[in-house]
Amino acid sequence: MPEAWARRAHMDAAGYDAAVARVEADPEGFWRDVAGRLDWIKAPSQIKDVSFDKADFHIRWYADGVLNVSANCLDRHLPHRADDVAIIWEGDDPADSRKITYREAHEEVCRMANVLKSQGVRKGDRVTIYMPMIPEAAYAMLACSRIGAVHSVIFGGFSPDSIAGRIKDCDSRFVITADEGLRGGKIVPLKMNVDLALTSCPGVEKVLVIRRTGAHWLEHGGRDVAYEPLRDAASTDCPPEPMGAEDPLFILYTSGSTGKPKGVLHTTGGYLTWASWTHELVFDYRAGEIFWCTADVGWVTGHSYIVYGPLANGATTLIFEGVPNYPTTSRFWEVIDKHQVEIFYTAPTALRALMREGEGPVQKTSRKSLRLLGSVGEPINPEAWLWYHRVVGEGRCPIVDTWWQTETGACLVSPLPGATALKPGSASKPLPGVKLQLVDAEGVVLEGAVSGNLCLTDSWPGQMRTVYGDHQRFFDTYFSTYPGKYFTGDGCRRDEDGYYWITGRVDDVINVSGHRLGTAEIESALVGHHVVAEAAVVGFPHDIKGQGIYAFVTLNVGVAATEELRGQLVRWVRQEIGPFAAPDVIQFAPGLPKTRSGKIMRRILRKVAENDLTNLGDTTTLADPSVVDDLVKNRAGA
Ligand code: WTA
Repeated sequence: MPEAWARRAHMDAAGYDAAVARVEADPEGFWRDVAGRLDWIKAPSQIKDVSFDKADFHIRWYADGVLNVSANCLDRHLPHRADDVAIIWEGDDPADSRKITYREAHEEVCRMANVLKSQGVRKGDRVTIYMPMIPEAAYAMLACSRIGAVHSVIFGGFSPDSIAGRIKDCDSRFVITADEGLRGGKIVPLKMNVDLALTSCPGVEKVLVIRRTGAHWLEHGGRDVAYEPLRDAASTDCPPEPMGAEDPLFILYTSGSTGKPKGVLHTTGGYLTWASWTHELVFDYRAGEIFWCTADVGWVTGHSYIVYGPLANGATTLIFEGVPNYPTTSRFWEVIDKHQVEIFYTAPTALRALMREGEGPVQKTSRKSLRLLGSVGEPINPEAWLWYHRVVGEGRCPIVDTWWQTETGACLVSPLPGATALKPGSASKPLPGVKLQLVDAEGVVLEGAVSGNLCLTDSWPGQMRTVYGDHQRFFDTYFSTYPGKYFTGDGCRRDEDGYYWITGRVDDVINVSGHRLGTAEIESALVGHHVVAEAAVVGFPHDIKGQGIYAFVTLNVGVAATEELRGQLVRWVRQEIGPFAAPDVIQFAPGLPKTRSGKIMRRILRKVAENDLTNLGDTTTLADPSVVDDLVKNRAGA
């Protein structure tokens, strides 16, 4: 750990130990102090009120506190940093960038909040946001929080069908979108996708369309509204709505093992406390620093570390519209130089793709402004970690490998730059107050250096509160596997120094280029095609993406298994879910390995996909063991 970091850190090694001890000795006092970083209209007197037990299951934090998220992210900075830059926007085209001060951001959010009100949006209403990476995406989120509406942001790569499912699930009557998006020089037809989605969502009353490219869009009379004229006429004054700490802030859909994506619900006080505290602690954020998280606001990383964490802390946050390899593979590093970025937070998949290009594109740039690097979304392999450290950070910058989930709101496990000695590939230690446990398949608690399933035995303020509209599913998904604990779905190893090494999902969730997907969703898209009788999808190790998608498909009788059909099915999944869900490999299989009760044995399919054919395990319980021979014989090259 570089000396300089230990000296400047918000929390050094002794501070970490002291915080861990204090949260044990005085949890109420500890968590009260953490929440004290926010501006409360009414400070909470109730701090933590949680039970993970079935009989009395509930999670509440700061329940009688009252606050407003947008006021915490904007208004409270105005007295002393109104002219500081809140948002640096870097467009897809390198010639396109702008800076927005806190004063301007505040005005824009107030205007948008007033426009939303004028269109009928009220406290508690769900508002769907399907936007490119432009400042208005952040304004839209903050405008919702200002008036107490609950936003549901949908990643701009999702298809019309996926949008429709999410709109219907939360009965959203309002959509905010843009005419088009622009990524890597390519147009994303956002408004058109919304139009297609809405053919099956009669409940949507208003679609607010923001101008990005200026392209003409088809106006659906009475429903579609151009934003700019309303914005120009709207007042820059919009008093923030006082919200209870446990009032919903947002819903974010994420994939699980089974069924359709779940609406993960986060609430106001605990979520913002956690996003803000971890942003300061993990990235050791100091006033005036420029912070760049490369995620999309459509994922939780963008929510917590582009918008809410940084802005709650009065930081300068960079919003990047483009992609790492456009116009060239030096783009990330050029943006760092152009805006003098100090803290850079990205995903291993991007690093692995850039590594392939060699050191040249990095070395063309200076990167002298960088002081800290971060990684998120999937396990970072030591090779990528070392490249990030040596080439990108020139050995100067600590790397924080942050483990967390949509469900956890913000980081739970991460090195702290001034406190934790780094090990390449390890997310290291839990943040103070985060209680990890490893258990075996039966739930037996494992001690010492060991591998197991990662659980949390206690709550933290940023924990999700429910699955929107299905509280039972929330309990069943996370708290029923190991009673009394939150089960993360991740496997993990703890080493002899007590460091945690996340090994990846142990359920049927796969992580493709940092995008979280349920195999069941891809299967359901595949069987939705008229030639497909049955499909089973598994992940396999992929050099760049982390995991690739391997689909086994049984066709209807009489349908020929052609190359052309393979291509058609890949396109079909792209269209049904989104381009990032397209299978890397499709293997046509006359039969899938099933037990006599009809359950698909995925263990065998995973081995075939991984090309680990000598180790298929016991196949005698299969209804028809001969299907395995065919699977092996016709294994598609991956
Ligand atoms: C994985 C993204 C290893 C993990 C913030 C988790 C990681 C899932 C890391 C959540 C990390 C995230 N090391 N694995 N540093 N960070 N993961 O909900 O499998 O999109 O369960 O949240 O990503 O993905 P999600």
